[in-house]
Amino acid sequence: MHTPVLLQEVIKALQPQSGGIYIDGTVGAGGHAAAILGDSAPDGRLFGFDQDESALEIARNRLAEFGDRVHLLHTNFEKLDQTVRQYQIPRADGILLDIGVSSMQLERPERGFSFQYDGPLDMRMDPLTGQTAADLVNHLPQDELANLIYRYGEEPRSRRIARAIVKARPIWQTAELAQIVAGAIPAKRGKRGKGGGKRKIHPATRTFQALRVAVNDELGALERVLPQAINQLKPGGRLAVISFNSLEDRIVKQYFRREAQDCICPPEQLICACKHKALVNIITKKPITPSFVEIDANPRARSAKLRVVELKRV
Ligand SMILES: C[S@@+](CC[C@H](N)C(=O)[O-])C[C@H]1O[C@@H](n2cnc3c(N)ncnc32)[C@H](O)[C@@H]1O
Repeated sequence: MHTPVLLQEVIKALQPQSGGIYIDGTVGAGGHAAAILGDSAPDGRLFGFDQDESALEIARNRLAEFGDRVHLLHTNFEKLDQTVRQYQIPRADGILLDIGVSSMQLERPERGFSFQYDGPLDMRMDPLTGQTAADLVNHLPQDELANLIYRYGEEPRSRRIARAIVKARPIWQTAELAQIVAGAIPAKRGKRGKGGGKRKIHPATRTFQALRVAVNDELGALERVLPQAINQLKPGGRLAVISFNSLEDRIVKQYFRREAQDCICPPEQLICACKHKALVNIITKKPITPSFVEIDANPRARSAKLRVVELKRV
């Protein structure tokens, strides 16, 4: 079962109230959703989205006790405005995006997300649509593959890795790919983890991240959902986003900064021409990160960053 990350911090940020409307754009196993529903009893309502039908099935069981206060929808959060219109969801008091993959997805070998288990190179969060990781690995030209690994995995040795992949293809299995990547680069000495301890990362970590991000267009979906999420809040409503890598966090940080500013003209321009008006107040000047205690109990939380904004009351 997936352990919800930064749970107390999310609840503190969203302050669920009875009668409130909440949207969980990444309901997963329903951990955050259960806490939001618990705190917004007896009549707060939650709309939970997930693009993975198998996650919704788990959430359905977990959240059954909340009866008709919960509505679960199989959709990509990048279609937020459209989904809200289709299901006539009222403006929200709180929206949560806990992006990335769940433990259930990572730990199922047949989903192909992890180099720790052997499985088909799939990595689609919605297994019903789109290209698989095997499609990318086996068909992209070497240069494009290298760029993808560099851009989405921030992997400095992307060219070497792409060369080794192209030489070895076709590649169909996660273990096979992990071995090829590990063979292409010298073992990394390891980064310092939170608390100063040495943490070695597997040489294939960044390549797997890059493929997953590309397969699911994770950065594109995040860029597209943020303005829609702001658009769906009530005045005073809050948007909380948990990201798990620096690429995602940069998108969230820059978007929040921009929407918290009245003028977004370049600094050298002395007179404002953009007429941009601030829409939100930033609640988290710095991102909230998990405590050592949480990371100890749930190492997957270690890279999480929570940022929160509030729609201005006019
Ligand atoms: C980190 S898990 C969420 C866990 C959840 N907060 C909990 O407490 O159980 C992320 C979930 O979001 C889903 N997801 C990721 N990107 C999505 C997107 N663009 N649209 C809809 N669901 C998405 C994944 O399928 C996964 O189930």
